[in-house]
Amino acid sequence: MAVDLLLGLQWGDEGKGKIVDVLTSDYDIIARFQGGPNAGHTLEFNGIKHVLHTIPSGIFHENSENIIGNGVVIDPVIFQKEIDELSGFNIDFAKKLFISRKAHLILPTHRLLDTASETAKGKAKIGSTLKGIGPTYMDKTGRNGLRIGDIELSDFMDRYNALRGKHLEMLENYNVDIQFDLEELEREFFLAIDSIKKLKFIDSEKYFSDAKKGGRTILAEGAQGTLLDVDFGTYPFVTSSTTTAAGACTGLGVAPGDIGDVIGIFKAYVTRVGSGPFPTELFDADGAQLAKAGNEFGSTTGRARRCGWLDLVALKYACEINGVTKLYMMKADVLSGFDTLKVCTHYKYRGEKIDFFPYNIEEKNIEPIYTEVPGWKKDLTKVKSSSEFPENLNKYVEYIEKETGIKIEVVSVGPDRTQTITM
Ligand code: GDP
Ligand code: IMO
Ligand code: MG
Repeated sequence: MAVDLLLGLQWGDEGKGKIVDVLTSDYDIIARFQGGPNAGHTLEFNGIKHVLHTIPSGIFHENSENIIGNGVVIDPVIFQKEIDELSGFNIDFAKKLFISRKAHLILPTHRLLDTASETAKGKAKIGSTLKGIGPTYMDKTGRNGLRIGDIELSDFMDRYNALRGKHLEMLENYNVDIQFDLEELEREFFLAIDSIKKLKFIDSEKYFSDAKKGGRTILAEGAQGTLLDVDFGTYPFVTSSTTTAAGACTGLGVAPGDIGDVIGIFKAYVTRVGSGPFPTELFDADGAQLAKAGNEFGSTTGRARRCGWLDLVALKYACEINGVTKLYMMKADVLSGFDTLKVCTHYKYRGEKIDFFPYNIEEKNIEPIYTEVPGWKKDLTKVKSSSEFPENLNKYVEYIEKETGIKIEVVSVGPDRTQTITM
């Protein structure tokens, strides 16, 4: 058995949901290994658009099993809403959606702490999705967290109340004015906990060990992106989990030697939502064109995404950290119409020209150095095969392949399942 991985190479929203859905027919099992409801993975098929937050993007395929691994953090309320929204699709959740007992629970008070922390930071805020991600992972590593498996224990309420009490004390210490109705939040929470109990809880490490013995195929679906990784991202403007390849081992319970292909997925340009450095960000008409053509609004929060040119320094860094074996380039259609495209090849870092991603990429330290490549006018959204690609798109693809040393196997030309071109 090999576990293949699909990971975002930028600041998230590369199009992971779309591609996992496209690839699901090649796999028996789709598994999320980190992140939580901060993710928003969009799928489009048969004229339907759907955004998933916690549920793996293989859920629409009849024969796939979908696993929420131990590395994921789950908000039962958001999770229940996701399930309710899928009610029209005739999905047998009890049969095909399993949750690791070791996945951590996001409590209502985790969400409040996230809001308090961001409010207290003021201008220096991370731009969090405010889903309680940071505080929940803090409780996990601080060894205070509550896990899915705890729901089955007779003293679950005692554990809940102990943690809730700690959180309320912490909230007071923040000394910020946030309004909330905890009673109502808890009412929703416990209703959702009752519903979640209807699903099958598993020990994911045992599940994957059995899957391996049975020769079943697995695709691990990353959330967020490499540049949001808690270690290798643009800290502190990152999320609180390991979004890179190593996260799949710790977030599912599979051994490094069982990892097969690492599919790295990137936009043909770059976007970022939330705060933090972004060397190739555009503030001009080109940036506005990318945002408009790419419809760049966050799938989870609806916030406008910041847009910029492709950054090869960051892309190569992401390929190395993850050991990417195949590249998928998304949203090529959005680049149609530019006379010239810019690609960042180096940074000027404290006066020196460098080609690696340094410790501190804050604006005051970094100036991007660009090369220009010719653009194309053709609308790509109706293209059915790479033989119909304009020559300058082929050149763009070849240029990125040469720079990264990795083949681009798929070029995506629209949000729909069918707008996916294998090279
Ligand atoms: P994810 O978080 O990586 O799954 O990505 P999101 O779903 O948050 O954001 C990607 C957005 O781009 C979604 O609205 C997709 O429907 C859309 N999308 C995906 N691939 C393409 C593409 O090739 N072209 C265009 N125009 N849109 C795409
Ligand atoms: P998907 O899986 C894009 C960003 C937030 C913020 C930072 C920390 O859809 O690609 P958090 O809520 O984790 O505390 O926020 O990370 N962020 C994402 N940006 N796509 C995502 O997920 C993201 N998940 C978190 O905007 O800057
Ligand atoms: Mg997204």
